[in-house]
Amino acid sequence: MPVGDSQNTPRPPAPAKAPKAKPPSERQSADTGPGKAKAKAKAKVRGRIVLPSLLSVTQRTTTEHSAPDQSSRRWSMDLDAASSDGAPATGHEARSKGLDERKIWDPRSEAPPAGTPWSVAATSFPRASPLERKLSACVRYAVLAPSSHNTQPWKFRVMADRIVLLADRTRALPVCDPHDRELTISCGCALQHLLLAMRRFGIRPRLSLRAVKGEPDVLATVLADASPGREESLPTAELRLFEAIPFRRTCRHPFADVELPGGFGEAVSAAGALAGHGRVSIAILGDRQSRERVGNLVAEADLVQFADRRFRRELALWMHHNRSSKPDGMPGYAMGMGELTSLVAPMVVRTFDMGRGRAAKDEELARHSPLLVVLSTRRDEPRDWLLTGMVLANVLLRATADGVSASYLNQPCELELMREKLARLLGGRAADGANGLWPQIVLRLGFGPRVAHTPRRTAEDVIER
Ligand SMILES: Cc1cc2nc3c(=O)[nH]c(=O)nc-3n(C[C@H](O)[C@H](O)[C@H](O)COP(=O)(O)O)c2cc1C
Repeated sequence: MPVGDSQNTPRPPAPAKAPKAKPPSERQSADTGPGKAKAKAKAKVRGRIVLPSLLSVTQRTTTEHSAPDQSSRRWSMDLDAASSDGAPATGHEARSKGLDERKIWDPRSEAPPAGTPWSVAATSFPRASPLERKLSACVRYAVLAPSSHNTQPWKFRVMADRIVLLADRTRALPVCDPHDRELTISCGCALQHLLLAMRRFGIRPRLSLRAVKGEPDVLATVLADASPGREESLPTAELRLFEAIPFRRTCRHPFADVELPGGFGEAVSAAGALAGHGRVSIAILGDRQSRERVGNLVAEADLVQFADRRFRRELALWMHHNRSSKPDGMPGYAMGMGELTSLVAPMVVRTFDMGRGRAAKDEELARHSPLLVVLSTRRDEPRDWLLTGMVLANVLLRATADGVSASYLNQPCELELMREKLARLLGGRAADGANGLWPQIVLRLGFGPRVAHTPRRTAEDVIER
């Protein structure tokens, strides 16, 4: 049986190094001394606005909101947690009550949901079919890529000997992403999934990022080599990335206060470097000071973004309730919401400026995540964005393959001033000059609780012939 045919079968959690709880002295604590006072003061500020506060409480205290069931019970639990001591329990406070180890969940420990695009199986790959059909089958892996707001802004033109990747700009986010930078990064993620799938199934891809005259939406052309290699020729490191595709998802919950396995940062960098063609740098920030400084920038950016009604309206457009049958966008459960909250959340987000609550939450998430990863480029052009997406895909897949969860703190990259500050923090400067450094993506990594997959359009939905 070819390696990887078992991808549709749940795998046991990695036997590798069990996560180690940090000694109490190393836990960056908001639960003692001035940290706690600060956290409580922030919680009080949030408490002044009732609806946004409820929403924010729900997001911070529920670490098991992953499937759209039993949510009304969870909703009442959330309120209890919020009112027990007059202030909402922060994620960190919850962790300090000894919940860490029980909340760790391996993303590979559960089969992808049956009957959805996630349940793609290597066994059903049309091995005996003409190349064009095989290429279409590879797109099934591309559509599982992450994308900003789950817009899935991609189209694939499948031909007899190639696939053309196009940006679908009808799915752009003009407020949050006015230059289609994150849109292109998202397409880069899909491209990397596609390349991994092609190689896994013995189709040698030749990638061209050259622009096509008169077709500004063409981002890449992947020629399928006519002399296919053997199926098993994919090196083990990349095979692991490929096999992680149906298990990857974003986990926005606080991560457990446990160390990541030794060498994990290096492994993630190495996986990213496989895809970046030397044009994307990967900064691994594990020290407390860096995480705090990034957290401050994220919080600053949150305040600016949420004060903008257009930003909130755009975000609300892509937020859906938990039982929505839409094949794109973000269901409430992906943001830790129960059913009731997910129903009102788009209206609340559209109407109220919840920047302060959001900022406090994100600051805390950054500070208490074991590792932050920043992807940057030396230039800031569509090709750099596409390559960033390819590196991002590999980083996320490598994390998934190691049972590590990931989420995003991109806000500083989305605002010019904050982006410059972040570049300086990383030791560069955001400028047009040769020494410029353009932060593109900020990730946080750690061991997280269970989260469910978000919806996807099918390959057939996004293939144009
Ligand atoms: C370029 C890019 C930017 C993203 N930015 C954020 C972000 O700022 N905040 C966030 O919570 N998720 C962010 N995400 C994650 C997406 O919202 C997520 O991938 C999408 O909702 C699909 O869910 P999944 O990753 O669980 O499949 C981003 C993803 C990409 C590819």
